[in-house]
Amino acid sequence: MKSYNNKVVVVTGGATGIGNSIANKFAHEGAKVIICARREDRLQQAVKEMTDKGLDAHYKVCDVSDLDDVKALADYVWNNFGQVDVLVNNAGVSGVPQPIIDSSKEAFQQVFDVNIFGMLNGIWAFGKRLIEQGSPALILNVNSEVGLYIPSPMVGSYAASKYAARAICETLRLEMPEYIQVSCIYPGIVQTELGGSKALTQVGMPADEFVEIIWPQIENREFYIVSHPWAKDYFGETAEELTKAFDRYAPHFEGDEKYDSKLLAKQAFKS
Ligand SMILES: NC(=O)c1ccc[n+]([C@@H]2O[C@H](COP(=O)([O-])OP(=O)(O)OC[C@H]3O[C@@H](n4cnc5c(N)ncnc54)[C@H](O)[C@@H]3O)[C@@H](O)[C@H]2O)c1
Repeated sequence: MKSYNNKVVVVTGGATGIGNSIANKFAHEGAKVIICARREDRLQQAVKEMTDKGLDAHYKVCDVSDLDDVKALADYVWNNFGQVDVLVNNAGVSGVPQPIIDSSKEAFQQVFDVNIFGMLNGIWAFGKRLIEQGSPALILNVNSEVGLYIPSPMVGSYAASKYAARAICETLRLEMPEYIQVSCIYPGIVQTELGGSKALTQVGMPADEFVEIIWPQIENREFYIVSHPWAKDYFGETAEELTKAFDRYAPHFEGDEKYDSKLLAKQAFKS
């Protein structure tokens, strides 16, 4: 799906930050864009900025952590635009930076409700309808470098949510029909409002520069969509440490095929 002329693109959390830049990019490429978030004033402002530029933009208030709200969003889009071609599961929260030992179930739950269940609600509300629609479509999930490696202490709830989101995305990819592309974006730090005015996201890559890097990867239907070069090194360090552990304590041996867990799982769960 290289041309987005008249395609219908839904972006959760699209009033600000990364979601807003992605929404603008799709709209500039000719798509009708529907953004959603909880704050109506921010949605109105974002849509006005886009329509003032001649872009085709609309909004619907929606809390992605509420499945009924996301189903209402799907109804709104199909009823008013007749189709959905791209769903961008972007809405996210950073959680409070704190050591896991000082954290609470509520603190983890708040982050999981948006970063994991918000994404799942998008998949549940749109996924089957996209399959029934029968045309090529794209489910684009905005993850984080923190879904690939752990950069520092204090990020437990956020990192756990993004690792889980990555697992869901990687599994979904194996389960969806070929005409539904599933892709996952792994940004490093991008200048946005994430985490509030004192957050790390006040620095980093400008959102528009970030979108220019990821855009060709979206067009090329890449599964892993990447942007910040250092992530390769840090992800590589994790992989290297793990590889060393295997080399030292669990190397291959004659007849070890019977312990090939991937093969066993494929045989057990073939659909
Ligand atoms: N900015 C970064 O450095 C960075 C890095 C890696 C990943 N990300 C990811 O990018 C995505 C977008 O974040 P951002 O940095 O643009 O921050 P942002 O705060 O500008 O955007 C997040 C958007 O999600 C919306 N949102 C939050 N909870 C919601 C809910 N329950 N229902 C609907 N909308 C909700 C917010 O209103 C906001 O518009 C997030 O998933 C975030 O985890 C950001």
